[in-house]
Amino acid sequence: MISQYQESLLLPARTFQSGPMNTTYEDVLEHIDSGILLFDEEGVLTFVNKQMYGILGLNRHSLLGCTLIHLLSNIQLNRFKKKQVLRGYREMMKKGKPSYEFVDEYGRYWTVSLHCGEEMKGCYLFTFKEISDYKLIEQTAYQNDSLAMLGKLSASIAHEIRNPLTSIRGFIQLLHPHLHQLGKEEYAKIILAEIDRANDIIHEFLTSSKPSVPQVAMIPVSALLKEVVLLTESEALMKGCEINFYPLQEDMIISGDIKQMKQVVLNMIRNAMEAITEKIDDSIGRIELGASREGAEVRIFISDNGKGMDICTLDRLFSPFFTTKENGTGLGLSVSDRIIKNHGGCISVSSRINEGTRFVISLPLIQ
Ligand SMILES: Nc1ncnc2c1ncn2[C@@H]1O[C@H](COP(=O)(O)OP(=O)(O)O)[C@@H](O)[C@H]1O
Ligand SMILES: [Mg+2]
Repeated sequence: MISQYQESLLLPARTFQSGPMNTTYEDVLEHIDSGILLFDEEGVLTFVNKQMYGILGLNRHSLLGCTLIHLLSNIQLNRFKKKQVLRGYREMMKKGKPSYEFVDEYGRYWTVSLHCGEEMKGCYLFTFKEISDYKLIEQTAYQNDSLAMLGKLSASIAHEIRNPLTSIRGFIQLLHPHLHQLGKEEYAKIILAEIDRANDIIHEFLTSSKPSVPQVAMIPVSALLKEVVLLTESEALMKGCEINFYPLQEDMIISGDIKQMKQVVLNMIRNAMEAITEKIDDSIGRIELGASREGAEVRIFISDNGKGMDICTLDRLFSPFFTTKENGTGLGLSVSDRIIKNHGGCISVSSRINEGTRFVISLPLIQ
């Protein structure tokens, strides 16, 4: 038995009439989720859909009949958009690129494609499509890729750095009796402890692509910060900066891996020192370190009056391998972020270019 639908499929093809049907095509174009601009062969805008005048922030009547020059002299079109239109014109019309990507003033990503030539009978068709979601997927894929690369690199770097450290450790042990005779035994102890710490840090850094289980212990925040200050004070002095440690009002205890915690604060102080050295003016470098209780959390702050960061740097700060330094690894903050997240906390940052940066680490307190 043939159903009514199947029967309709057997009917001869209908011939479509031009004319009234065009309105339907315009309706489709009007409601499509891309912005459309159609210029005729003389460069006059003959069609613009709803999405498009939304993107430009203008009404249809002020657009139809315009040329590009008219559009650029429209006082209702803001400066940012004018710049984008000009840039798009340069890329596509002058350089002949078939598509162009840009970020609008709200941080959304767009791609513009151009169709022209014979198939368009001399007209120029521009389609605008938002691609923020694709960009996000692309960035996540890039980050995952970097993390995978981090895993691969780790084995070779660990091998390269650990070997000389082992030799240094061996020779220091050999020197130990001589240093003892000189009454400088303390030096050997410090060097050995620092080498062990360096080894641990390398291990942590380079196995950071695999989530490691922290060695949990009770950590008094005050002791943690004091120790970090002790470790960095002389380096800071050499770099011409002072570290102001604000003694804590009360003793607060967090639970976690002390080596990892030290590593995080050390990373941040090192970054602060580097930001100070990179600053152009020669004002005194100042790093401030302290902590306070905020409900059931402790907020550890590390602020500096270094070179600060622009929005682009702030956006990518925690991505593995992101660095603005010639000899940077770009691993410090990505590893720190992971460590703090593993401890149930978070890192926030605020910064102003040429003024300084403030990092705040929030961690749950043991009551
Ligand atoms: N205190 C700071 N002031 C200015 N920029 C900073 C600061 N801390 C981090 N940054 C920026 O973040 C980037 C990434 O830091 P990080 O992950 O520690 O890697 P690295 O120090 O190897 O570059 C740095 O290259 C720098 O541009
Ligand atoms: Mg760093």
